[in-house]
Amino acid sequence: MKSLIREYDQVSVTKAPKRLHIITFGCQMNEYDSQRMAQMLMGRYSLTPNLEEADLIIVNTCSIREKAEHKLYSLLGRLKRLKRKNPALKLGVAGCVAQQLGDRLFEKAPYVDFVIGPQGLYRLVELLDGLEQGDLHLSDVQLTKEFHIPYIDAPLPRKGDIRAFVTIMQGCDNFCTYCIVPYVRGREISRPADHIIREIESLVEQGVRDITLLGQNVNSYGKGLGHNIDFPSLLERIDNSFPDIRLRFTTSHPKDLSDELIDCFSRLGTLCEHLHLPVQSGSDKILKRMNRHYNSSQYLERVERLRKTCPDITITTDLIVGFPGESQEDYQETLELIKAVRFDQAFAFKYSPRPGTAAAKFTDQVEEDVKSERLTRLLELQNQIGLEQYKRFEGKTCEVLVEKCQDSRLTARTRWNHVVNMEGDSDLVGRLINVYIERACHHSLIGRILH
Ligand code: 5AD
Ligand code: SF4
Repeated sequence: MKSLIREYDQVSVTKAPKRLHIITFGCQMNEYDSQRMAQMLMGRYSLTPNLEEADLIIVNTCSIREKAEHKLYSLLGRLKRLKRKNPALKLGVAGCVAQQLGDRLFEKAPYVDFVIGPQGLYRLVELLDGLEQGDLHLSDVQLTKEFHIPYIDAPLPRKGDIRAFVTIMQGCDNFCTYCIVPYVRGREISRPADHIIREIESLVEQGVRDITLLGQNVNSYGKGLGHNIDFPSLLERIDNSFPDIRLRFTTSHPKDLSDELIDCFSRLGTLCEHLHLPVQSGSDKILKRMNRHYNSSQYLERVERLRKTCPDITITTDLIVGFPGESQEDYQETLELIKAVRFDQAFAFKYSPRPGTAAAKFTDQVEEDVKSERLTRLLELQNQIGLEQYKRFEGKTCEVLVEKCQDSRLTARTRWNHVVNMEGDSDLVGRLINVYIERACHHSLIGRILH
């Protein structure tokens, strides 16, 4: 469980009379949504790190993997006690689990005041007005194709952050057979480029230097916008407008990774040399059953082209083990693909059946202990490869952007997305510095500042 307040601990909380606490589960998209909710409520509510003093608590949920509902109900059980102490406290559930459960959530947790889905959250203010006028159990879980992500013209409730995320699209049209996203986040909707540019502008004004564009499948950005803009041209526009930032994006679907997009890595100075490209499996049979629309050789061909265009690019991925029908041979093919690509980092998951998805109905589900065993072996292999990849940087000098300082320990990031830890002063936060890499760890590098 992540509590949003941690990101905002430098925000002044003096003006607004009421207190808001948001608990965020899941991905960066959810964190972004939590920030939008806080932003919409600025002026009415200020953020508090203290659950006990909150007038409004929102739990922003994620349902992508495992026991999401169970986790939510056990958290709500704990929050219910706060409502007993403070009957004026309002309690809301947002995000993907909220979208899935809708009004059913009130049956199990009648003390919850409102439920809002990923589109509904933009109508949060109206919904709270309704509650203030005495309405009970309000829900907004509409998902429509006509929805547009509104531009929120209010300052972001954050200060001092060097890194920020900007959603460029919401939803997904791909329907990978294991994935709940298209059902809970709806169809793909792109934000107008002007909104994205304005948002980046305000972040840059606040001192942000490293921007990650977010979407379930950023490569298909622009679909349905009605004017001629695609993802490479959006990147180019951002690169032209903000030549001093570091630019990243996630997530890319391999089937939509065009040559034109790959060329951006050599063409655009702001675009960092890192790509997260989820492969999910190395078996063509499984990729087909996942509805991924590429096979392992096509994936390898994309990787080859990326490395030809941008030789030092780091590539990270997502993998699923134990998808229905995955035989020992299929699994072995995934291990072979990991060896062939040599990912810098991989996020690996046991397949988890999601209610309502196609794969949840497949009859050849894999036993839990087989999945666990496969995951352990895969992680052993990837940890070894990942460390070797990181070790390539030992003894080298890298330019890093310093993000944070705590007790004279600096946390910085390379363009290739490695986290680098070192000793240093807080006045270096936000600056680019040269660092000598002394040692590689599993998921970070240890450096020394060069003067
Ligand atoms: N089971 C396991 N992993 C999943 N992911 C998405 N849905 C599931 C599921 N049902 C993983 C995929 C995706 C990442 C965000 O989560 O690897 O890329
Ligand atoms: Fe889910 Fe596939 Fe869409 Fe990614 S591309 S969000 S895995 S359906």
